[in-house]
Amino acid sequence: MSQQQDLLRDAMRRLNLTRDAFSERLGVRRRALDTWLLPDDSGESRAMPEMVGKFVAEILQREALGAAVAGGAADDRTIGQRIAAEGKPHLLSVAQFDRGSLEDLFQVADIMQPIARRQKVTRILEGAVLGSLFFEASTRTRVSFGAAFCRLGGTVCDTTGFTFSSMAKGESIYDTSRVMSGYVDALVVRHPDQGSVAEFARATNIPVINAGDGPGEHPSQAILDLYTIQREFSRMGKLVDGTHVAIVGDLKYGRTVHSLIRLLALYRNLKFTLIAPPSLEMPAYLLELVARHGHVIEQTQSLQEGLRGADVVYATRIQKERFAGEEIEGYTPEFQVRKALVDAVCKPDTILMHPLPRDGRPGANDLSVDLNHDPRLAIFRQTDNGIPVRMALFAVLMGVEKQVARSMRDAGWRSPAHIGPDDADFDGLD
Ligand code: ASP
Ligand code: CP
Repeated sequence: MSQQQDLLRDAMRRLNLTRDAFSERLGVRRRALDTWLLPDDSGESRAMPEMVGKFVAEILQREALGAAVAGGAADDRTIGQRIAAEGKPHLLSVAQFDRGSLEDLFQVADIMQPIARRQKVTRILEGAVLGSLFFEASTRTRVSFGAAFCRLGGTVCDTTGFTFSSMAKGESIYDTSRVMSGYVDALVVRHPDQGSVAEFARATNIPVINAGDGPGEHPSQAILDLYTIQREFSRMGKLVDGTHVAIVGDLKYGRTVHSLIRLLALYRNLKFTLIAPPSLEMPAYLLELVARHGHVIEQTQSLQEGLRGADVVYATRIQKERFAGEEIEGYTPEFQVRKALVDAVCKPDTILMHPLPRDGRPGANDLSVDLNHDPRLAIFRQTDNGIPVRMALFAVLMGVEKQVARSMRDAGWRSPAHIGPDDADFDGLD
């Protein structure tokens, strides 16, 4: 039945309809739609009537036909071809995506969910080897890219830090990349210099994924953030179009928000409130890019004002490692997102996000742990979503996305329905 959930979720995404509007379009009760969208193991999930499935497929077909007529010939290239960087299967920047390719990628991520939830397994990338090169600290990105590749049936070889790579002996990016390409089938690279991962990509024809290039971009993080927003919104009956996103923290060096704001700009009529002291404001070129797409941007130093009425609050860590000799000015406790303030100015359905890690050290004023039991806190749903999204990225860059569904088998072991002891009831469900 997970195929049914994928079909319905994808249809709502493509038609840009909330659950209420979609059930109206189908002529069914909202409650019925909700039960068709529940995961198979929820007890209340129901199979939708065959007729409804056919009707959904027909609406989607008509919609695609309409779009093709309006926009010229339909694009029958694969997702990998549509997002290619200078003709090569790399992921270097979110600028490679448009809304269509992003939503197609999310459909592949939906297909990966049963594998990410350990219900199914696949060997689709059997024999393939991932090279994971991290020249900066990482827990989530390094491990989840590795786990995603392994869950597709591949294996991982890695090196971490400059000390244990021959770059410590003066080897260039070009030589390192070319050498690695003879050993592995894809590379995931994190490096402290902006533009450096693109340099790795220029030296090879195997897929290269940017896992963070200094203060530049962190595209896979932004993609999983947007996927999370869509899934949270789908549960609540909201759309990304027209939403209010508040972003707080280090907007100057925070590469996750540099990528995220560009991706969100692909949607319509958003309002952004950007909250940071003057020394940590969002770079001007990004403000201009977002404004060119017709979105509203407000910059403020008042957390209370910036958070008021937001649908999404995205907090970030101060990127201390990027302050070469500079003083970190003005990141006072007034910038800390904490429960009392969220309760006072946010809505019951606001979602609270953070790319993580949270800096828990005294004086960091990062996202407060007093929100840990608040169901609005979506940070671990974000990290969990890293697996299906990164699996989808490997699948499209390596051209196997169409084979995944039929390659799946049942997993031979059982894992807990709720991975974390404090997960809310709806965690992992939608
Ligand atoms: N982990 C994210 C990054 O590497 C965010 C952070 O470190 O603050 O960009
Ligand atoms: N969000 C993120 O990139 O986390 P890591 O730095 O731990 O990889």
